[in-house]
Amino acid sequence: MGVLFINACLRGDESRTLELCRQYLDGMADVQEVDLGALRLQPFYGEDVAYRARLESAHDYDDPIFDLSKQFAQADEIVIGAPYWDLSFPAALKVYIEHVSVMDVTFRYTDEAVCEGLCRARHITYITTCGGKVAGANLGYEYICGIARMFGVPEVRFAAAEDLDVVGVDVAAQMAAAAEAVQRLKETR
Ligand SMILES: Cc1cc2nc3c(=O)[nH]c(=O)nc-3n(C[C@H](O)[C@H](O)[C@H](O)COP(=O)(O)O)c2cc1C
Repeated sequence: MGVLFINACLRGDESRTLELCRQYLDGMADVQEVDLGALRLQPFYGEDVAYRARLESAHDYDDPIFDLSKQFAQADEIVIGAPYWDLSFPAALKVYIEHVSVMDVTFRYTDEAVCEGLCRARHITYITTCGGKVAGANLGYEYICGIARMFGVPEVRFAAAEDLDVVGVDVAAQMAAAAEAVQRLKETR
């Protein structure tokens, strides 16, 4: 299917994270974007979980409720752009993961009750920027690493621009250093 870009850069064109993502994606063919700022997905509440569970039990995966999950499972490469918010990432990205995490689409359980991933992506590239530093609390990235293991994606790569909101910091220099890291990831796709 090509590259799936999950855009959780909710400040749109103002977003420094989106700027780095665009540098990574520049020149790539066959990119599908999921713009979480535009989609405004709702979290799964009890009735939604019950509705989806009924469809899963009936092996009826034609309902649009499964579209995002199928799209994720079929991507050859996944790029997540998400600013560092409250030690992780915007809640909109977590809500998206709720939509994507579907048994027998992105993961399954074997007869021995072992969780097995069903996604075909060779890696997830996680790009973020932060006001301070992620060091010691890179919790959004670590969560995505856990999700990647569950979904069977063998590798997660990371690039960040740090200290962007620290008074006196040379923001352009921080962004340039991050752009170099992004470029290195691009060269090792
Ligand atoms: C709601 C919110 C929460 C944030 N939480 C943190 C945080 O926990 N740690 C931090 O270093 N920066 C935090 N920041 C600062 C952002 O990470 C930083 O400004 C980042 O570059 C924003 O990315 P963007 O330009 O792509 O929107 C937060 C910003 C916002 C708006």
